[in-house]
Amino acid sequence: MRQFLAAVAAGALLLGAGGASAKETVIKFSHVVAEKTPKGQAALKFKEEAEKLLPGKVKVEVYPNSQLFGDAKEMEALALGDVHIIAPSLSKFNRFTKKLQVFDLPFLFDDIAAADRFQASPKGQELLTSMASKGFVGLAYWHNGTKQLSATKALLVPDDAKGLKFRVQPSDVLAAQFQAVGAVPQKLAFAEVYQALQVGTVDGQENTWSNIYSQKYQEVQKHFTESNHGLIDYMVVVNAGWWKGLPKDVQAGLTKAMAAATKVNNDIANNLNEEAKKKVAAASGVTIHQLTPQQRSAWKKAMAPVWSKFEGEIGKDLIQAAQTANATN
Ligand code: SIN
Repeated sequence: MRQFLAAVAAGALLLGAGGASAKETVIKFSHVVAEKTPKGQAALKFKEEAEKLLPGKVKVEVYPNSQLFGDAKEMEALALGDVHIIAPSLSKFNRFTKKLQVFDLPFLFDDIAAADRFQASPKGQELLTSMASKGFVGLAYWHNGTKQLSATKALLVPDDAKGLKFRVQPSDVLAAQFQAVGAVPQKLAFAEVYQALQVGTVDGQENTWSNIYSQKYQEVQKHFTESNHGLIDYMVVVNAGWWKGLPKDVQAGLTKAMAAATKVNNDIANNLNEEAKKKVAAASGVTIHQLTPQQRSAWKKAMAPVWSKFEGEIGKDLIQAAQTANATN
């Protein structure tokens, strides 16, 4: 009886003046990058908008920098409901769908605008639900930008990478990409990369300028190559059961907040990467190498076999749809 009364009293505390439940839904949004990156800023915008649109109904807690969960654990945590929203790079869904590997094909998109067109196309939108059977649903794509190489030596032609160890995200396509140039890929969590570069566990890496600068790789790598050879974009994913179980008004408000956050992310991504590139260039002892058109072609040619290797898993139709986005104006 005493327990029952305590429960009633606790319930009463949760009731607002109009009799509605005043219980806020706490939404945990975890990611692995710094706040001063496109994703870091967009996650904060999502919090701001969601709390403005749904006052007293939701509280969004954003955990950057792998503070709550790192690469290895965040998807498991999402499945268990320990976190509600995550936004991993598209290269990290390998275990759940082979389709998203399309985004890792080297030299696939001419630029971010092409990636954007593909993501907005029917095939790109279908991919948002490609993990539904695993309990994950994508709410949006967020851009970061194109990847640049760095290493302990200048990388101008594919042979320069021979024998070097490169950190890759947990993607078989990215591993194959480095194997194609005679390098040795090492799958490592994002939070471990700085130290791995510092102590020499790996000799090089690939990432966007905003990730490179915010993770301070310029302190431990002196040779960067502006290769733009691949993409780092994100899928913002939620636990499908959790999302479905939200009250309709909350779901609508969060959908609106996500649209606002996506716009901010995509509006600032390019500038943040450009600013970061300038800061990396200004760092002590750093050289940013530019490739001649011939050198870039040589990298493209050397990495081309990766496409046919993964065509069966990804699907020819998907690869073609992605390529078509390059031609659209
Ligand atoms: C991220 O941008 O979320 C991290 C990508 C990486 O692991 O390199």
